[in-house]
Amino acid sequence: MSKLTITTPGRTRPRRLRQTPAIRDLVAETRIAPAQFIVPRFVLPADNGEEPIPSLPGLAQLGIENLLRVVEDELALGIRAVLLFGHPESGAKKTSDGALAYDANGAVQRATKRLKQTFGDDLIVMTDVCLCAYTDHGHCGLIEQGRVANDVSLEPLVRTALSHAAAGADVVAPSDMMDGRIGAMRDALDAQGFTETILLAYAVKYASAYYGPFRDAADSAPAEGDRKSYQMDPRNALEALRESELDELEGADMLMVKPALAYLDVIHAVRATTTLPLSAYNVSGEYAAVKAAAANGWLDEAQVVRENLYAISRAGADQIITYHAADAIRGGWL
Ligand code: PBG
Ligand code: ZN
Repeated sequence: MSKLTITTPGRTRPRRLRQTPAIRDLVAETRIAPAQFIVPRFVLPADNGEEPIPSLPGLAQLGIENLLRVVEDELALGIRAVLLFGHPESGAKKTSDGALAYDANGAVQRATKRLKQTFGDDLIVMTDVCLCAYTDHGHCGLIEQGRVANDVSLEPLVRTALSHAAAGADVVAPSDMMDGRIGAMRDALDAQGFTETILLAYAVKYASAYYGPFRDAADSAPAEGDRKSYQMDPRNALEALRESELDELEGADMLMVKPALAYLDVIHAVRATTTLPLSAYNVSGEYAAVKAAAANGWLDEAQVVRENLYAISRAGADQIITYHAADAIRGGWL
């Protein structure tokens, strides 16, 4: 065997900073605190009840009293923000105008009231503002001549936001993707005296197949067609900057990119162009994919969730909306 000449590294050795867990923690560039998590919750129009969601293992639709208990447990973990999604009253018929979305006695409105009465300012109650769970056609806006029409959709959406604010929501989060809804909501909220209600705009929301499990849970899949005429085309990133700039100009207090994992570049780009707080939504399909692989023994759930959540944070998200939050904190995964 001929003699090998090995060149050893120079003075700089990046591995010095990776030697022990303590050193790695000391120099970690990204950290996630429980206060950054926002947990989505599905509210049933009932005081009691718990219906597991098959496509979202570990999650259930909750009656309001059950919701209070779960929220209390999660507050103890340091999770201080929930994002509520609702269902029409059982027996109530969905209509083409989605009027059930702004029923003052609806599940989201009632749950918001109870949560704020019970937990006060310890809990941040956020509500998803949309029509799709309340329209008989399952679209996020109203239909005219076979299309989802923009301007006529603003009124029911604004009414929905107002009904959530009146119930005491700290944050209303419109997810419909109609143009101009942020400005319309800000004006109406201010005119009705809700000047302190925070607007979290789903500013950059893609037409994504990753919403599948959610639509089962929310019973909000479109009866016909898809959402591509109002949600964004996954091929576009510059458009994300336009959408977020518009929502900022219209008065959004916080912006969101959704989904998160397939759009880390978009999170990074939006973070670089706005000074507003930026949330990222780690959506149902991203959660379900990890859970399914983990259940098969194909992925290590704890490590994959850790890696995913830090990826979202590293990309530039200030808040992370995720179904994994409680598991990650309880399990010490972060
Ligand atoms: C309703 C809405 C959706 C999600 C949040 N709000 C579904 C959709 O737009 O079809 C998706 C959330 C998730 O997948 O976790 N507009
Ligand atoms: Zn919708």
